[in-house]
Amino acid sequence: MPIPPGRYGLPLAGEMIPLYSDFYGFAQRKYQRYGPIFRTHANYHKAVVLLSAEAQQHVLLTHQKNFTAGVGYAPIHDLMQDALILLDGTVHRQQRSWMTPAFHGRNMPAYLATIERIFDEHLAAWGKEGTVAFYPAAAAMTFELGAALFLGLELRDDKHHLLELWTQYAAGVNTLLHVKGPFTTYGRSFIARAKIDALVRGIIAQERASATQSLVHLLTEARDEAGNAMPEADLVTQLRFLLFASYDTTTGTLAWLLAELLRHPDLLARVRAEVAGDADKGPLTYADLTAQRPLTDAVINETLRLHPQVMMFARGIAQDDHFGGYDLPAGWIAILLPVFTNRLPDYFTDPQTFDPDRFLPPREEHKRHPYSFIGFGGGAHACIGENTARIEIKALLTLLLRRFATLELVPQQDLREVYLPLSRPKGDVWLSYRR
Ligand code: HEM
Repeated sequence: MPIPPGRYGLPLAGEMIPLYSDFYGFAQRKYQRYGPIFRTHANYHKAVVLLSAEAQQHVLLTHQKNFTAGVGYAPIHDLMQDALILLDGTVHRQQRSWMTPAFHGRNMPAYLATIERIFDEHLAAWGKEGTVAFYPAAAAMTFELGAALFLGLELRDDKHHLLELWTQYAAGVNTLLHVKGPFTTYGRSFIARAKIDALVRGIIAQERASATQSLVHLLTEARDEAGNAMPEADLVTQLRFLLFASYDTTTGTLAWLLAELLRHPDLLARVRAEVAGDADKGPLTYADLTAQRPLTDAVINETLRLHPQVMMFARGIAQDDHFGGYDLPAGWIAILLPVFTNRLPDYFTDPQTFDPDRFLPPREEHKRHPYSFIGFGGGAHACIGENTARIEIKALLTLLLRRFATLELVPQQDLREVYLPLSRPKGDVWLSYRR
């Protein structure tokens, strides 16, 4: 079979700059010229970009043994080490099986208590009425929450300077310029990582001895089928990755969700009615948040359809494969761009419009193809924190709607989509609110 049509672009850099500076525009131009399968050069490899839901299913699920996440995400390996998303095959399965029980529904009620406490403390500080830059506010909440949930740390006074270290670490992961040294963004990231890891090792030692049901404690207790515990170095890497995988993704989703809801007052009123339908106005319950929020779930899905946080998936092609009449040669990488696929009219009617009802009966457009909507991924690497993320988002939305009678977008904001480092509105999503 032929290799896919397309071009490789510049030596070394390939087409990385047009791809990373505008994922959607890049895909759109290529789609018009070549159709849903084309070749390019990105992440220092020859690459094939696959833009259909069928291809998403092929790469992530049905033919996943031919693809490797480790090679796809190799550019971040030095800083992420063997984080779950960079592992394949039996090593991935083993690490994931140690971690999965900690994310079981039975542990969620305890996590929810922490989620509610932290969100409530932040919202209380807003006072009776005013304006707030929601993106940074949401970032502060999700970071504090990540530190509490995954590391058991209370960050009120941040005596460990975790946020500062984290910002330095994440900047290195997100830069494309991999120049080591004590004064470069990339080099300083390794210095920050060493300090974060020392802190995490101290926490693990404490949590091993504790009787709490914190996530760290659960991970120290986890055993595989042969009765082995997770080695400490892996535990440090995976805990650090959990903080990474949850922070910008949840913040970006919250910011888009609020921006979209407040741009659609009719919808906001319907979500308010769903939330107000809670029988109990006391503490949030896991049962309420999971069972009785179909519209809120649809709003989360629609937010992630139009603004997917993982806008690009990358996998190495480990063995020669073929798809759609073309060769997918071993040694290349396969790129999926849900940021474009999610807006194809083949799968979603009037796809540029924010319309959560498309996910509800009788329409249920996402059922036209099982891999048209992959907001939380699919196959072996599907997001381990989906349930936690949904609970966090629903908890914050419920608290916002319970606490504030008025929530409005401050006019004239720049809500164009940017990728810094993941999808977010360019402005900070300024809200005005009244209790
Ligand atoms: C709205 C928020 C979130 C979104 C949109 C999201 C999305 C995703 C996606 C699409 C993947 C798959 C990436 C791929 O296959 O290349 C993924 C993987 C992952 N996510 Fe999330 N995520 C979110 C929140 C979280 C949270 C809160 C956690 C932790 C509690 C988390 C932990 C992980 C982990 C550990 C993986 C790697 C799983 C594996 O490789 O087996 N994520 N996420």
